[in-house]
Amino acid sequence: MINYGLDGKVATVTGGGGGIGRATALAFAGSGAAVLVSDVNDADGEETVAMIAALGGRAAYKRCNVADPAEVKAMVAAAVERFGRLDCAFNNAGINSVTVDEYDDAVWDRSISINLTGVMYCMREAAEVMLQQGGGAIVNTASINGLVGNPSQPAYTAAKHGVVGLTRHAALRWAKCGIRVNAVCPGVIETPMSAQAAADPQARAMIEGMTPMGRMGRPEEIAAAVLWLCSDAASFVTGHPLLVDGGVTAY
Ligand SMILES: NC(=O)c1ccc[n+]([C@@H]2O[C@H](COP(=O)([O-])OP(=O)(O)OC[C@H]3O[C@@H](n4cnc5c(N)ncnc54)[C@H](O)[C@@H]3O)[C@@H](O)[C@H]2O)c1
Repeated sequence: MINYGLDGKVATVTGGGGGIGRATALAFAGSGAAVLVSDVNDADGEETVAMIAALGGRAAYKRCNVADPAEVKAMVAAAVERFGRLDCAFNNAGINSVTVDEYDDAVWDRSISINLTGVMYCMREAAEVMLQQGGGAIVNTASINGLVGNPSQPAYTAAKHGVVGLTRHAALRWAKCGIRVNAVCPGVIETPMSAQAAADPQARAMIEGMTPMGRMGRPEEIAAAVLWLCSDAASFVTGHPLLVDGGVTAY
């Protein structure tokens, strides 16, 4: 694993009990950062912390539903309380309601509140700390569906386009304050979220067939992009939605 030189830095990761979040929390720790892992699934979040500890890294768990502004405030406060500062915020928690009709009011509201409003809450709270500190890096998880349409998922597509727009807004707002704000836009990545499709030979063949590189992505490949965006190597990069999709949107 590449070391992105984050010794002494502190990172938050939402949805840190799952595929991309867990891989990124492990990558942050592997590059020297202390990590505040949060999730709504306590067992999974605590398992990520245990994995980091087993590798000799520093991490702590705090439950946080990103759709609840009070829980988000408490999560960011916990990072500062526990590790003394906040340098990198990976606002990643999300849900995909691929099997239900997103035009249903309740399904729509849930998707927007977690996938978009939750990112706003996390960004707002992280930025408040970073503004006091004089800088930081924020990465929001969007999707290829934040840049191109998807005929079957109106709420997810709208939310992820919203994340890209919000990222561009925040990058402009805080550009002179030392805070860089970027988004990562994964293609289809092999995580618990995509497990059903990955296990279905027909669906898997369809995904692999539409992806120029001919395979699904790995969570570690998203983690590498996030860490680069948070590192000094990306010091002039802000407001950018970084596609990590095996070429699927290059058509
Ligand atoms: N896997 C993919 O193919 C793919 C593609 C594009 C974008 N994404 C995005 O990447 C992010 C991570 O997805 P993943 O594939 O790792 O999914 P995952 O389901 O493996 O992990 C998501 C994690 O978020 C947590 N979570 C769900 N709702 C939450 C909430 N309200 N508050 C806090 N945590 C919550 C879950 O418990 C889980 O641990 C999501 O934003 C997703 O939309 C995934």
